[in-house]
Amino acid sequence: MTDSNLAVIVLAAGQGTRMKSSRPKILHTLAGVPILGHVLATARELDPAHVIVVVRHERDAVAETITDLLPEAIVVDQDEIPGTGRAVEIAIAALPAGFEGDVVIVSGDVPMLDAATLSGLLVAHRNGSGAATVLSAMFDGSNGYDATGYGRIVRAQTGSFDRIVEQKDASDAELGIHEINSGTYVFKLESLRTQLGAVGTANSQGEKYLTDVIGLLRTGGEEVTAVPVAHNWIVAGINDRAQLATAARRLNDMIVRGWQLAGVTVRDPQSTWIDLAATIAEDVELLPGTMLIGPTAIERGAIIGPDTSLDACEIGEGATVRRTDATLAVIGAGASVGPFAYLRPGTYLGRNGKIGTFVETKNSTIGEGSKVPHLSYIGDTTVGEESNVGAGTITANYDGVNKSKTVIGSHVRSGSHNVFVAPVRIGDGAYTGAGTVVRKDVPSGALAISVAPQRNMTGWVEANRAGTAAAKAAAESAEADQA
Ligand code: UD1
Ligand code: MG
Repeated sequence: MTDSNLAVIVLAAGQGTRMKSSRPKILHTLAGVPILGHVLATARELDPAHVIVVVRHERDAVAETITDLLPEAIVVDQDEIPGTGRAVEIAIAALPAGFEGDVVIVSGDVPMLDAATLSGLLVAHRNGSGAATVLSAMFDGSNGYDATGYGRIVRAQTGSFDRIVEQKDASDAELGIHEINSGTYVFKLESLRTQLGAVGTANSQGEKYLTDVIGLLRTGGEEVTAVPVAHNWIVAGINDRAQLATAARRLNDMIVRGWQLAGVTVRDPQSTWIDLAATIAEDVELLPGTMLIGPTAIERGAIIGPDTSLDACEIGEGATVRRTDATLAVIGAGASVGPFAYLRPGTYLGRNGKIGTFVETKNSTIGEGSKVPHLSYIGDTTVGEESNVGAGTITANYDGVNKSKTVIGSHVRSGSHNVFVAPVRIGDGAYTGAGTVVRKDVPSGALAISVAPQRNMTGWVEANRAGTAAAKAAAESAEADQA
């Protein structure tokens, strides 16, 4: 049920220069979802009355992603006044009049922050009487979590929360503090609004710091508490591609484990990558080197891999897909694909069908029980049921200007090394000979052949290549025949 006293503010105006990318940092992906998308999903799980996202850097690209992933979010633009405090000030100005309650603030670059952590923070906040509750962490250098760069939580002699000091403004003694501000908070809206008005920019970065609100609240006699996060990785922000890979690895481990517990055999979790949008039925087996990209769906008992990537594919019950690269392909139950197949968008393989070794397909339907076993290119083609396309068959679908269709009927037996020059139709039950170049339609039940008769020029090697190994071998063979 919607929490009518809750708003979530996502700060996403920052630049992300350390990514060294033309793409905005928060649009880089892990498990197939942008960094910002993970944060938006977490925000949505809290079911707040309002989600507000503050943007500025690469504003249009970021706003488009927000609209795609969380249409109900309100996108607001930060002005030229820099700092997290200014971002929040602009966000709360966009809250509908009359909203009162709690405001959760998160950064758009912390993808592993989960809803359980956030709702725990919110419950702690609501159970207490403080004006603000800060999600903190101990970054003491162990396991690679160093406090450098973070705001430090400064406590009074009594141990009570005093204020947050930023790295660049901290004294040497303060730099020795390991308790850091994760950048995730809950505030009472009223207290936040009042104190933000009093925050200035007199600091080493000339920014309006959100963290200054904490000190002002304490000076005003209000209570602030810090709630430590359960695991440091939950609050790790993504600033560069090494951190992105670390977070992606961890998230993938969690996704793989989730599917294992749901009945999927994953032989090698380290080399198996599964996007969040993928769905996998029980008794599916994923072999090493498998990537399930986007909304790929795999039915019960299918065996995928090794070394297979499936992007937005549907794989039917009991199908096998080995050493294959496939995008937007639909594979029927019991069908077999690979090894070494390349399935491009619009490939449909019917129940018990086969796309075999070194076969490329595109925009083609291969019917139930039909097979393309070896060394073929099948494009813009439909094949009926129970047909067999011979080894080395090419559908010549492109004349340099237009793409044309090939239609192969049911129960067709086409010979090896055929070229089907589209547009062309092969009728039901037709045969073609080896090496046929099919330029004209083949009627049902006909045998098509187009090869020129073979001519053997006897003695050609002796006459033209005398003294070569070939000539010698031919002579020896002739002698042996005579003996
Ligand atoms: C901030 C905190 C610091 C904390 C750290 C945690 C302040 C002043 N400091 O520091 O105490 O330890 O986060 O990661 O808040 N943003 C805007 N508009 C701005 C500036 C930033 O929307 O003008 C957004 C960024 O896109 C980012 C978040 O706010 O999502 C944090 O900004 P960042 O620049 O990373 O703040 P830090 O200096 O790291
Ligand atoms: Mg930062």
